[in-house]
Amino acid sequence: MATEKKPEYSPGLAGVIAGETAICWVDPNAGLMYRGYDIHEMGDKATFEEVAYLLLNGELPNGKQLKDFKQQIAAQRDLPKEVVEMLRLLPKSTHPMDMLRTGVSMLSAFDKDLSDNSHDANIRKSIRLIARVSTLITDGWRILHGEKPLPEKPELSQAANFFYKLNGKAPEAWQTRMLDTIFNLYADHEFNASTFAARVTSSTLAGIYAAVTSACGTLKGPLHGGANEESMKMLEDIKTPDRAEAWLKKQLAAKAKIMGFGHRVYKKGDSRVPIMRKIARDLGKRTGKENWVLICEKLEEVMDREKGLCANVDLYAAPVFWMLGFAPALNTPLFAASRVAGWCAHVVEQHDNNRLIRPRSLYTGPQLRKYPGPADRS
Ligand SMILES: CC(C)(COP(=O)(O)OP(=O)(O)OC[C@H]1O[C@@H](n2cnc3c(N)ncnc32)[C@H](O)[C@@H]1OP(=O)(O)O)[C@@H](O)C(=O)NCCC(=O)NCCS
Repeated sequence: MATEKKPEYSPGLAGVIAGETAICWVDPNAGLMYRGYDIHEMGDKATFEEVAYLLLNGELPNGKQLKDFKQQIAAQRDLPKEVVEMLRLLPKSTHPMDMLRTGVSMLSAFDKDLSDNSHDANIRKSIRLIARVSTLITDGWRILHGEKPLPEKPELSQAANFFYKLNGKAPEAWQTRMLDTIFNLYADHEFNASTFAARVTSSTLAGIYAAVTSACGTLKGPLHGGANEESMKMLEDIKTPDRAEAWLKKQLAAKAKIMGFGHRVYKKGDSRVPIMRKIARDLGKRTGKENWVLICEKLEEVMDREKGLCANVDLYAAPVFWMLGFAPALNTPLFAASRVAGWCAHVVEQHDNNRLIRPRSLYTGPQLRKYPGPADRS
């Protein structure tokens, strides 16, 4: 017999406030702030390390703090040899996100601070995770393609080192600047699905590695981080701007979900799109591949007209990564290389003031009924 009244329920937790945070604010009217700083002001000026420091520590670093932080990250990039060996044992068909999730999980066993959830230990582990998530992606990618991982270059920033570790060439300054901006756009987004997964996991007082492992698993899905890989498949399928409108209408008629469109919070446009679109246009000119941007712009126009839906950051991220020379399978890992800073900041915040996250569900099964013995079930 039901003993409680039907509680209020919001499918998908839409609009539900599931906790407090001082790290990031997503304004539904297309704004995004990290610790009070507007991403539109900071995004294309700050380095990723500055933003990661801000998310983790609450304030921007001064010159010395930034230098020390960069050195600390650079000094932690090497993976334990056992982890590299494990990457080699995975089938060559493994998706880089699965490789990353498995790698993060394995890294936990090598961290001497593993079971210490204090603030200081969590910051130390965050620095290691920010450094090594990138290495897992770049080394994993080379191993999947039969190449040896490259030695680290500690003098390079996270963004520059990412390029270098993939193909052995240090990038041009403008390429590093672009990747810093992209990393800054992806670094945090309050209670998005992967960050929420990290917070739920850490709220049981499981450690930061368990939380980031949960987050990696959650990010991979195409309704979340995986959308930036799916968006590139869509653009490749469309091929040319003149085919975009008919392609989209056909998909909409078939009730398909269009990757890179829609958002749970933003209803008037994703705050990150204007910056990502600008990078895409710039790259289109530099590489002579303006076609991709023209397809995206056409899709935006038709989607607005037909469904009133706006593009999200993953639409333009897809051609941006492609024109920067990254294979589409690396799109979601690139997202993770940045979002790990946000995940870690949220775990630190959760552990600093923890309460178990344990919501209720609305029961929709049969009402109370009598248990029949096995003989009565034939
Ligand atoms: C992000 C997403 C999961 C948000 O889902 P949501 O909050 O449940 O979506 P909404 O409630 O705003 O959807 C409103 C309507 O628009 C439709 N819609 C939303 N996004 C859509 C999309 N990308 N393509 C087609 N239709 C879409 C929904 O099906 C719904 O239609 P209905 O009222 O006929 O059922 C969803 O927009 C989506 O799947 N987008 C594609 C994947 C993607 O780009 N993810 C990255 C997000 S940053």
